[in-house]
Amino acid sequence: MAEARPAAAPVAPPCTFVIFGAAGDLTKRLLVPALYNLSRDRLLPEQFAVIGIARHDWDTDTFGREIAESVREFAGIDMGGEAWRWLAQRLFYLKGEFEAPETYAALNRMLREVAPKSHDVGNVLFYLATPPEFFDKIVVQLGRAGLVHEEGGNWRRVVVEKPFGTDLAFAQELNRWLLAVVSESQIYRIDHYLGKETVLNIMVLRFANGIFEPLWSRQYIDHVQITAAETVGVERRGAFYDATGALRDMVPSHLFQLLSFTAMEPPTCFDADAMRTEKFKLLDAVHRFTAEDAHRNAVRGQYGAGIVDGREIEPYRREEKVAPDSKTETYVALKLAINNWRWAGVPFYLRTGKALAVKQTEIAIQFKQAPLALFRDTAVAQLPSNDLVLHIQPDEGMSLRVSAKIPGPQMRMGDVAMTFNYGDYFKATPSTGYETLIYDCMMGDATLFRRADDIEAGWRVVQRLVDAWKADPAAPSIYRAGTAGPEEAEALLARDGRRWRPLP
Ligand code: BG6
Repeated sequence: MAEARPAAAPVAPPCTFVIFGAAGDLTKRLLVPALYNLSRDRLLPEQFAVIGIARHDWDTDTFGREIAESVREFAGIDMGGEAWRWLAQRLFYLKGEFEAPETYAALNRMLREVAPKSHDVGNVLFYLATPPEFFDKIVVQLGRAGLVHEEGGNWRRVVVEKPFGTDLAFAQELNRWLLAVVSESQIYRIDHYLGKETVLNIMVLRFANGIFEPLWSRQYIDHVQITAAETVGVERRGAFYDATGALRDMVPSHLFQLLSFTAMEPPTCFDADAMRTEKFKLLDAVHRFTAEDAHRNAVRGQYGAGIVDGREIEPYRREEKVAPDSKTETYVALKLAINNWRWAGVPFYLRTGKALAVKQTEIAIQFKQAPLALFRDTAVAQLPSNDLVLHIQPDEGMSLRVSAKIPGPQMRMGDVAMTFNYGDYFKATPSTGYETLIYDCMMGDATLFRRADDIEAGWRVVQRLVDAWKADPAAPSIYRAGTAGPEEAEALLARDGRRWRPLP
């Protein structure tokens, strides 16, 4: 069995990890558990501290207790173990308003107190785990307080959470604000899909295996399907979701990352800028919808009542904090064209939705059919096409479907699958997906973080749809919860003589 992690990954350099939004779900469910996993894997430096900032009337002790409680609940951590004890004694809390200069003066003092080296604040990572409307305000205050100024070989980095803006104009404005205070090399824009091993494996699959790349183009590929299906509804996030919708929540971020890795040109090296340039070029080549093809090539749906995993689901419009006449889409399917030499004429179909029949994220590359000529006088009426499916989650792995002869005197064929499951080959320790990203940020490796131009290129594609839908009085079509989505999505492919892969 192969090792999942190289034994000798270096320990991150001394630093203080400051979290804005320390009382929020992200901190409890993902950031602290990820820090715990890094501590368990001995990748955090001895001189390390976490300062959580929020408005809650807590002190360091209450923060520690709150965090411990939620971490136990969400992450099932062994609280008696050495890794948790190590981390717990490094947690500090600062109560403050994100817009108040006093918060930053207090932060400056606290950084000195908990800093790895006495009298020196050292390296600091500022993690903005807040809604996007606070990003610019926090960064401006950090700038005014001199906290993002790098000197004496110490770094200051700012991690910005998704969603990066809510539309193109907001994303551009945010970039302008951030870049007025810190340089691009100090900004780490997160998309947690880039922390998923199976997403990173797309690059290894494509570029470390000589057999795939020669086939990876319009010459041999018929079309590509990218699916991110979820069984969950909007849960407690009605207010955020109703103002956002499936398109803005998933497409410019997660789905476009899957698209970029699948379709980008090979970078010249794994250097952050080489990679990010290729990702930008790919998104920049995606055809931008016109008002007319926004209607033709995009489908939106909203879940109605139904049953998911044996549970009865209320219609989306009855979810907490969702408008009873909401027109927000919980499902979107798109047909995209990539206008470059490699992909001209190859449709990329993307779909994502909530309250669907299964949780399944996958990329299916469907190859062109072989000519039937050789088999015309046999019992074979049609040749199935080969497809390569990259299973991103939950059953991580990949499978290749090929035709094989069914034993017997006649020429008959059957579909067979060559399958690889991650779990059969690699020992994986439990992880949240944030470990790699946090570690890379501490190490100063921005390869897996998004650059301003890449984010804006994604929004440029999506904005046309946002505008077209806003101008359209029609509501999304209702699909039954627990199904594969609205019928119109089937029609989107049927028009091209194709079908979605079944869900499940
Ligand atoms: C988040 C979206 O970014 O990603 C959620 O806001 C979505 O709506 C989630 O459920 C999906 O992430 P994952 O890792 O479960 O596929």
